[in-house]
Amino acid sequence: MRHDTSLTHLIDIASLDVAILRRLFSCADLLRSNPEFSPQQQAKLSKVHAINLFYEHSTRTQLGFEYAAHRLGLQISNLQSEQSSSSKGESLIDTFHTLAAMGYRLFNIRHPQVGSAQQLAAVAPAGVHIINAGDGVHAHPTQALADAYTMLDHFGRIDGLVVVIAGDLRHSRVARSNIALLNLLGAAEIRLVAPPGMDLQPQPQGSSVRSFEHLDEALPGADVVMMLRIQMERMDALEIPDQQTYLKRWGLTRKRLLLAGPDARIMHPGPLNRGVEIESELADGSQALILDQVSLGVYVRMAVMLTMLAPEITDLKEC
Ligand code: CP
Repeated sequence: MRHDTSLTHLIDIASLDVAILRRLFSCADLLRSNPEFSPQQQAKLSKVHAINLFYEHSTRTQLGFEYAAHRLGLQISNLQSEQSSSSKGESLIDTFHTLAAMGYRLFNIRHPQVGSAQQLAAVAPAGVHIINAGDGVHAHPTQALADAYTMLDHFGRIDGLVVVIAGDLRHSRVARSNIALLNLLGAAEIRLVAPPGMDLQPQPQGSSVRSFEHLDEALPGADVVMMLRIQMERMDALEIPDQQTYLKRWGLTRKRLLLAGPDARIMHPGPLNRGVEIESELADGSQALILDQVSLGVYVRMAVMLTMLAPEITDLKEC
């Protein structure tokens, strides 16, 4: 039976509900089991062209989408933004219309401007899908979906979890998307910890959200400790703290992790600044789920793209 949920664009978590989230996670589960697509489905998938439009640097999101597209059998291109006609003054909207006119159907866009993905979705022709791969400090929904899917994989639930999110929250679209998603999925507590000047503005709402001044106060009872890097590229040189002092005062150290206990799991969306927000050995230790976030993120990105295309390509009830 076809689900009545559908996904035309993925701009932020606010546009999702629990039904579509269940569908995306079920689809990711199915894709992990490596299903065989029929020859007819394979033929349809191979005719879909996706494109990565990345106007900011990326490793895991851009290549994650590329890898996910290949796994689905889609065609995928990458716009080299520095060599594109945007350097001649072409607007993002004109670039988008140009590429859509060529026949590209799925656009994964990362752009420094808040609202850029929404801007494209507002003018997208029928059958063209926009996926926000990060717009300024606003949203990074596929990272949050990858993180939630990793928590589900490890704990079997999100309902009732205590999740600490610590670091440079102010510049973090990942934090904003994770807070929204964890709220939606019933996390018991989302504990926010930020050094002075790096807290979220405005403070997020929600009965499960609590702010702490220091990581030591937030760690007892935590199931997940998600550390975030300082986004130096979005800060003035004068605002950037000395790295050793930062680790000592605000970073996750072995000693601090003891406050959370041996069952707590460490997450980080990457890229890591080892020895700044996290002691290097913790990032590679048995409590870290950091590489699971990457590998499971591939299935989440496959699920997002397949669910957008599903009505015409597959009749899989999970997608
Ligand atoms: N987490 C994340 O967005 O990483 P990249 O910048 O490498 O894509």
